[in-house]
Amino acid sequence: MVSGQSVAITGAAGGIGRAIAEKCIAEGAKVAISDINADLVHATAKEIGATAFVCDVSDEASMKAFIEGAEAANGPIDMFVSNAGVGFPDEPGGHAAGGSNKSWELSWQINVMASIYAGRSLIPNWIERDLDVSGRFVIIASAAGLLAQIGTASYTATKHAALAYAEYMAIMHKDDGIKVHCICPQYVQTNMTKGMTVVTEGPDKHILPSDVADTLFDCMANDTFLVLPHPVIGEYFQAKAANHDRYISGMARRKAAIDTAHIPSMKET
Ligand SMILES: NC(=O)c1ccc[n+]([C@@H]2O[C@H](COP(=O)([O-])OP(=O)(O)OC[C@H]3O[C@@H](n4cnc5c(N)ncnc54)[C@H](O)[C@@H]3O)[C@@H](O)[C@H]2O)c1
Repeated sequence: MVSGQSVAITGAAGGIGRAIAEKCIAEGAKVAISDINADLVHATAKEIGATAFVCDVSDEASMKAFIEGAEAANGPIDMFVSNAGVGFPDEPGGHAAGGSNKSWELSWQINVMASIYAGRSLIPNWIERDLDVSGRFVIIASAAGLLAQIGTASYTATKHAALAYAEYMAIMHKDDGIKVHCICPQYVQTNMTKGMTVVTEGPDKHILPSDVADTLFDCMANDTFLVLPHPVIGEYFQAKAANHDRYISGMARRKAAIDTAHIPSMKET
């Protein structure tokens, strides 16, 4: 599916981005990875056989430079993965407007605007291409893009926006042959969830980054937009759509019961 293709992935010094990079390389792709963490992205690229770039996805010029660098190294990008992401708890105050303006701005820039910056560089060129698949754009949202994540308003709102933007891109460019996928995992064992109690059994269990990469490739093969490494999230989402008021009441009960002690571990990365 990606053999011989040029793939570029943001925020791929570790975690889910790295796992997708490794999967693409195993499938024969030429992969460019970027991250804001310069030392780690270079070390990771060396380990897995990718080309490394330092890129701050919240800065449009930096994103453009990454895309140009990846294309100079590996040829025109066939698949772009907008993976870099951050999460911040609602503190101080613990109420719905408790997050700082800085955490909201960073969440908006990194979780949402980064995909728009990348799309601006890539989509016009993809539209010009006369291929069966003109380009593939993958956005890593979250289960928090479909359902509220209690304890973090900024993550919930920006991941909903990331999913909405992915849907919009898919609708607008279906006839141009551009494939779009949006990944919405629940908990995955990465730096972002470090310090949380790891759940190893059941439908809500903490999965590995490689599980996310495998589910993405299954969805690419089946041409499926919504990538759900935890299938139960699809059931919860259907229940929400069927009765929004019941969803809000149920989540409010969950909020009352939840042990919020783990929420601050969802830190800036
Ligand atoms: N781990 C989970 O449980 C989980 C669940 C759902 C969705 N996600 C999403 O998956 C994606 C990858 O996260 P992860 O779990 O692999 O965590 P991670 O912390 O390992 O990876 C995130 C990467 O993004 C990089 N990054 C942060 N700010 C950046 C910026 N401004 N520019 C460039 N890179 C930047 C970090 O340096 C880090 O390497 C994120 O979008 C996250 O929201 C994670």
